[in-house]
Amino acid sequence: MALEEGTEVSVSEAQIAVHWREEEYYAPPAKFIGQANASDPSILARFAEDNFPECFKEYADLLTWDTYWHTTLDTSDPPFWKWFVGGRLNASYNCVDRHLAANRNKAALIWVPEPEEEETRAVTYQELHRRVNEFAALLQDFCGLQTGDRVTFHLPMTPELPIAMLACARLGIIHSQVFGGFSGTACGGRIADSGSRVLVTMDGYYRNGELVDHKAKADEAVSAAREQGQEVDKVLVWRRHHGRYSSRTPMVEGRDFFVDEVLPRYRGRSVEPVSMPAEAPLFLMYTSGTTGRPKGCQHSTGGYLAYVAGTSRYYQDIHPEDTYWCFADIGWITGHSYIVYGPLALGATSVMYEGVPTYPDAGRPWRIAEDLGVTIFHTAPTTVRMLRKTGPDEPAKYGYHFKHMTTVGEPIEPEVWRWYHQTVGKGEAVIVDTWWQTETGGFLGSTLPALQPMKPGSCGPGVLGVYPTVLDEDGNVVEAGSGKAGNICIRNPWPGIFQTIWGQPERFVDTYYRKYCRDEKSTDWHDWPYFAGDGAVEAADGYFRILGRIDDVINVAGHRLGTKELESAVLTVEEVAEAAAVPVMDELRGRVVEMYVSLKPGYTASTEIEQKVAGAIDSEIGKIARPKNVWIVADMPKTRSGKIMRRVIAGISNFADVGDVSTLANPEIVEDIRHHVHSRKVESGELPRELTAEELAEIKAFGRTD
Ligand code: WTA
Repeated sequence: MALEEGTEVSVSEAQIAVHWREEEYYAPPAKFIGQANASDPSILARFAEDNFPECFKEYADLLTWDTYWHTTLDTSDPPFWKWFVGGRLNASYNCVDRHLAANRNKAALIWVPEPEEEETRAVTYQELHRRVNEFAALLQDFCGLQTGDRVTFHLPMTPELPIAMLACARLGIIHSQVFGGFSGTACGGRIADSGSRVLVTMDGYYRNGELVDHKAKADEAVSAAREQGQEVDKVLVWRRHHGRYSSRTPMVEGRDFFVDEVLPRYRGRSVEPVSMPAEAPLFLMYTSGTTGRPKGCQHSTGGYLAYVAGTSRYYQDIHPEDTYWCFADIGWITGHSYIVYGPLALGATSVMYEGVPTYPDAGRPWRIAEDLGVTIFHTAPTTVRMLRKTGPDEPAKYGYHFKHMTTVGEPIEPEVWRWYHQTVGKGEAVIVDTWWQTETGGFLGSTLPALQPMKPGSCGPGVLGVYPTVLDEDGNVVEAGSGKAGNICIRNPWPGIFQTIWGQPERFVDTYYRKYCRDEKSTDWHDWPYFAGDGAVEAADGYFRILGRIDDVINVAGHRLGTKELESAVLTVEEVAEAAAVPVMDELRGRVVEMYVSLKPGYTASTEIEQKVAGAIDSEIGKIARPKNVWIVADMPKTRSGKIMRRVIAGISNFADVGDVSTLANPEIVEDIRHHVHSRKVESGELPRELTAEELAEIKAFGRTD
């Protein structure tokens, strides 16, 4: 990671780090320990480094294999690691069929629609099996899809999504679910990148009380894909209300089909699960990176499924009698791993909720928890912050009891953690703060809930069989307890690690391994640490405190948005010459985006242009990425080599010190921008607030990567 020319980090990370306060430990409740899946400390020894990689046999043995593997870890083509080589299995069989004998009538999924008057629906393993088979038959016969083909889904949070995923898995078809909140254009880009010729979508879904017209996005997606050279020949449209079409867009003759009209042809059909090699791809999950082209993270069948099953068992502590609710969207990796594949591999009951946390009021999640007897609750800090703000007293009004709670996706402030623990968890629940990524398939850092105490704001040590380390820019280890921050890396491979970036293997190596690789010829995994792209501090006790992304990714309410993606969206606006996206600290969403633009000669700033910029982001990416403010500036602060200094404008947007700007090509512009932005912010009632050391460090580091 090269510093941009002319930049100077005036406060070192070490200086910032010394201001951090060590938080106190919280012990897991005795009642939790008494029932935990992992309560015997010998498990830590079983997964210690001298038992690596064989320790992961314990996870793989949670699955049913058609053929047992002969090699646990094959490192012959680094860093393209292969797990459980020689093994064959089917993910759909493991998540559905094998539970029928003992649990045919158990709820696999419990679906809670957003409208409260609509009834909650349980899908038993028997029903799931039937529906997965029928949809698999449709994919095979009606769409002509085969093992190895890719299919894109743009589905909301309804049972049809896991059903479609498991139907693909049954046939070895690679699914690629695009988050429903993404725009049609963003979906189209992912269709093209993955080479899908079938899109599965839904006409509408409920969000904040409104029946959203979702099918409209399918038409945009198909034309965006076509522009990028990919034809979609079938669009399968589920209907949110059976037999009633909820979209205003017409169905395209010969291309669009209502699933509920086609499916009856496959009634009662069963489709043999295809026995897949352990290293066959199971799905793609797109995420943002430093360049505009999204990364299709390719996950394996055997390694991934073993990893999410194992971590669901020990870290989510799922037991057969639990009602487990992960309040995330299946359009993100959290939902794939910890709503669908992990819990269903264990034969658990997994709750899915369609809508937003505060609809119709901030008591909704707790009513759901009470009604369904939820025992395990899993969500993101942004949701916790929102519920704390809008309904601080709501949890106490409901008689639910959680034994276990998870936080995931962003750093959680110790103060918010304590509210989660005390008020949501009623002081009875253990908390795991799980740090991981789309790329990593499952958890990397977390406490083992019955065996390791919690520490607010820290995720904990590396999980079983995962050995993290913090490295400085030169690859030296930043010692635990030194108080210094650095780049968190994982020293070893683990079964859940993604296999490659779909179609971009060099980018895979460059982004995640090149920086710290000790010897590119080596087939010894010790020479290939995984570079996660997060800053972190390791405390003396081996607990990691994650500081956030060190690359050009902005984490908005747990959603990763690449600055380059945002900027390319804005550059589609005719008047715009240059664009730069920066993060702004936000009380509820963690970070929000502010967009700086300069105009082409001959144009003058106007609210219409600001609106066009915001509109371009809505249509190219989706409403989640909408900037808080669009600042039209005369010029961007730049280095002498012409690079936009994002840390300077990020400083201005956050009312922070911008550091030394004397070496810029146009230092005088900084004052103009500051004046313009601050006066407008103050006018609109936004007041400067004191930033924490972590926030300051993040701003200073922003945009430093190439
Ligand atoms: C951040 C989500 C602090 C981190 C599973 C990471 C976290 C990025 C945590 C990945 C956590 C995730 N504490 N930060 N517990 N969990 N992050 O790919 O910056 O959507 O790199 O995966 O979220 O986001 P992604």
